[in-house]
Amino acid sequence: MAGNTPLQRHWWQDALIYQVYVRSFADSTGDGIGDIEGIRSRLDHLDSLGIDAIWLNPCYPSPQQDHGYDVADYFGIHDEYGTLADFDALLADAEQHNIKILMDLVPSHCSNEHEWFQAALLAEPGSAERARFYFRDGKGDGNEPPNNWRAAFGGSAWTRVNDRDDDGQWYLGTFTPHQPDFDHTHVDVKQHFADIFEFWFDRGVAGFRVDAVAPTGKHPDLPDQPPVGADVGILDITWVNPYTVFRPEGHDVWREFRSTLESYELRHPGRDLMMVAEAYAVRRPELVKEFTQPDQFHQMFSFDLMLSPWEKGSIELALRDPFEILNSTGVAPAWTLNNHDIQRIVTRLGKADAHLPESWTNNNLALSGAAIDLELGARRSRAMTALIFALPGSLYLYQGEELGLPEVLDIPADYREDPIFHLTDGAEVGRDGCRIPLPWNTDVSTSFGFSKPAADGSVGEPWLPQPAGWGAYALATAEDDDTSMLELYRTASDARAEFAIVQPLRAEVLDLGHDLVGVRRGGLVIVVNATMQPVAVDLEHPELSIARPVFSSEPNEMHTPGVIPANSTVWFAS
Ligand code: BGC
Repeated sequence: MAGNTPLQRHWWQDALIYQVYVRSFADSTGDGIGDIEGIRSRLDHLDSLGIDAIWLNPCYPSPQQDHGYDVADYFGIHDEYGTLADFDALLADAEQHNIKILMDLVPSHCSNEHEWFQAALLAEPGSAERARFYFRDGKGDGNEPPNNWRAAFGGSAWTRVNDRDDDGQWYLGTFTPHQPDFDHTHVDVKQHFADIFEFWFDRGVAGFRVDAVAPTGKHPDLPDQPPVGADVGILDITWVNPYTVFRPEGHDVWREFRSTLESYELRHPGRDLMMVAEAYAVRRPELVKEFTQPDQFHQMFSFDLMLSPWEKGSIELALRDPFEILNSTGVAPAWTLNNHDIQRIVTRLGKADAHLPESWTNNNLALSGAAIDLELGARRSRAMTALIFALPGSLYLYQGEELGLPEVLDIPADYREDPIFHLTDGAEVGRDGCRIPLPWNTDVSTSFGFSKPAADGSVGEPWLPQPAGWGAYALATAEDDDTSMLELYRTASDARAEFAIVQPLRAEVLDLGHDLVGVRRGGLVIVVNATMQPVAVDLEHPELSIARPVFSSEPNEMHTPGVIPANSTVWFAS
């Protein structure tokens, strides 16, 4: 596949995909909670960014203990978000805009309110109902958890069933007690997921972002995790557990999924379906290759840039592995700079000595270190954005990054909803700060345009509080400013279509002999200056001698030919 011309590509290989965190995007009913109809009312905005698809964070019925990542029913829409009819209407309208929809599939676990789990609680130890999950007897007299595994969001990974005298088994929940893990070796579980694929493909969705790939599949004996070093943070212990993370057993699950997907394609010619894997395999290219074998995922997120400090060596490192995989296997990366789990980039890069979290759950680390300079962070994120818009592969944008939203750091504890905050007793701040409802205009009475008033004119408080100055970031404010982040995203999207998409799906890191990061993709050379000073490029350099600047993250500063402004990115085309 490497070196394909655009016509031979699958749509998802170099698509622009916009992640909608449904709860915080747009509220059409005035209850302070985003919904499907709200998305439908804002399709013009998404269209203006030139996107190919929307990825919807989980919008299935759910008690919302982990905001949708605790699915109670995989075949419906959460009532606060609307109905299946609303969903179908969104699909149809999106299609009018040539926008596809990707769902978020959560295979690793469901909600403790899922009917199967409820049935398992009522059933006997050893029953068929319990075999769909990991129910085990406790150690010793049964009072100790079956093993020492920790939950990803704090505490033990095991919860004891206490509501029966004769029982007292424990069940496994890798994330929280509200999210019991499925045992994917069970035939019912396999069939369940095959049915889920069929159900959503029949409605017209184009694929799935597959959640929590790393911990799906366990060592069959569930042995104790070997001791971890004192340097491993409380939320990182799960991620170094060799018996539950990146297990060979997981690959059996992904092979089943892929064959279900392909059998659907065979029965429905013309459908070009995909699955992208969410797993943090940063600097582990061998894992990316394993998971993107032709019988598993089509793509895997490349989070390397998202977790990279703003520094030449780290940026180059973050590019090299994905490029090597692309060039050798043809598997195009799924680039991303933000998502609903990570502190927003403007805040992250707004620190001179940005120490970024190695793992996504640990947002506290990102808060330590130097004071935050949001102007600097915005400038650097413009440069990062200009970089990823030129790269081969798909781009996943997270809602609000096109508005330059910063992380909201000062949410009062009473308003925090993330289970990470609660299960660590506030020791970890969690992820609410990147999930604040979007500002669409400056009207305070409608929560900055987030909420459409209800029929009686009322507007409920947004589910997470918006800061007083949120209107400064509103879409309407940005529309009037041709230096805004929004303008950068729109022009970058156009430039991508004109200069980048036409290039081969291949790239390499260049040595430009300067303080600069260089990338070549066919006839396009991208130069990033990650320093605090303007840097002159050698226009006689063989890579640049016939090239002219065609796009810049700081268009108003392109005065001196050959000088890359501080903290900026320039594209050169031959
Ligand atoms: C999702 C998180 C979620 C977790 C558990 C992650 O990978 O992105 O938001 O809390 O999976 O489902």
